[in-house]
Amino acid sequence: MENQYIIKGGTPLRGEVTISGAKNAALGILAAAIMTDETVTIDNLPDVRDINVLLQAIEGIGATVNRISPHVVQINGNSIGDVTIDYDSIRKIRASYYLLGALLGKYKKAKVALPGGCDIGSRPIDQHLKGFRALGAKVNIEYGMINTHADRLIGNHIFLDVVSVGATINIMLAACMAEGKTVIENAAKEPHIVDVANFLNSMGANIKGAGTDKIRIRGVGRLHASEYSIIPDQIEAGTFMVAAAATRGNILIKNVIPKHLEAISGKLLEIGAKVEEFDDAVRVSCTDRLQHTQIKTSPYPGFPTDMQPQIATLLALSEGTSTVTESIFENRFRYVDELSRMGANIKVEGNIAIIEGVDSFTGASVSAPDLRAGAALVVAALVADGISTIDCIRYIERGYECFEAKMSALGASMEKIPLDDDRAIQKFKLKVS
Ligand code: UD1
Repeated sequence: MENQYIIKGGTPLRGEVTISGAKNAALGILAAAIMTDETVTIDNLPDVRDINVLLQAIEGIGATVNRISPHVVQINGNSIGDVTIDYDSIRKIRASYYLLGALLGKYKKAKVALPGGCDIGSRPIDQHLKGFRALGAKVNIEYGMINTHADRLIGNHIFLDVVSVGATINIMLAACMAEGKTVIENAAKEPHIVDVANFLNSMGANIKGAGTDKIRIRGVGRLHASEYSIIPDQIEAGTFMVAAAATRGNILIKNVIPKHLEAISGKLLEIGAKVEEFDDAVRVSCTDRLQHTQIKTSPYPGFPTDMQPQIATLLALSEGTSTVTESIFENRFRYVDELSRMGANIKVEGNIAIIEGVDSFTGASVSAPDLRAGAALVVAALVADGISTIDCIRYIERGYECFEAKMSALGASMEKIPLDDDRAIQKFKLKVS
């Protein structure tokens, strides 16, 4: 059944929220977990749709998946009987292509459907394939599938032409069970790359330099059991930071690594919000209207593209003219038309959004175009005068665990109700009036 969010805006968010495990780290770690024949236990798993879909794909190739609780899973890759990931899995969750690197590393063969483009633009995987070929694998694309196999995988020196999170993780997966030494140059440095590397090392891999642009891997013959806890989600945390500032509230955001949030904290401070850092928490508060700024997305430690729609929404309510330049994905401004329906004044020219700040938004019915844009629309609705509905929330649920419950606990009037359920809408209106 399709659901929608219904939100009455205007309440400053106050209180505490606990951030879940990082979705993008978990996707790499779950794929890596199949590389040993021993049982691996993974904790702080986010209970979101993308993770559940990847676990189904892992079960689909014959691994044993034991979901001990919403946040803990045990995986055993001993019983894998198939190295084929079909289009249905890839279509639902793009990152199931990490199984390509994992299966190639472990079994020296894999067959995975070629992912297409997606809501935020064309997304080539040439750098992943270049890496596998450099390790000595044959890679053919036939009948919509990437078919790869190797007699032996042999370490090599690989220079990535673009800084790619996906290619860095995928090559790291294959290389950690290749013979000899691999060096990945111009590697991505995102916190979840470090987390996947730490997890692989906990299984006996030998990876050094993750988190810098040069990763050195010495291949090992086998990997072993491990127990591992996933890092907190930088983007979920950033979304609550922006929600605190946008609603002029005061939120203590717990279970975070403040260092990972520096690009976001820096921009919030620059435009006038208050950000306090603690060991594993940040507090964001705001009382006055914020100021304009310029933002350009770039690979870590730059400003994350996955926070671009949320910060643009905040700037759309700030004083003066701001610009947001999207330098990673070509089609990531599709939420602008939806935001305009709530009163935002944003003009997009190529990869730049020119934002004239307005005093306030008004509630409207809008549709989430993708995961992070959907979260941005939720933030907009939390600020807007009156009631908004947001549909296509299946995108938002790909990456935000219990979003409406976490927002409600902070004082938001936000519920998840069945799509087009007039009675539920009336009931909500009565409750909030
Ligand atoms: C990951 C994140 C996504 C985030 C993105 C950028 C996961 C599961 N997803 O996506 O949430 O928005 O990083 O931080 O972790 N590129 C190529 N060739 C390739 C690979 C990438 O040209 O072989 C280009 C892409 O088109 C894009 C840029 O490199 O312009 C960065 O993409 P990449 O870092 O690979 O993003 P993903 O790993 O897909």
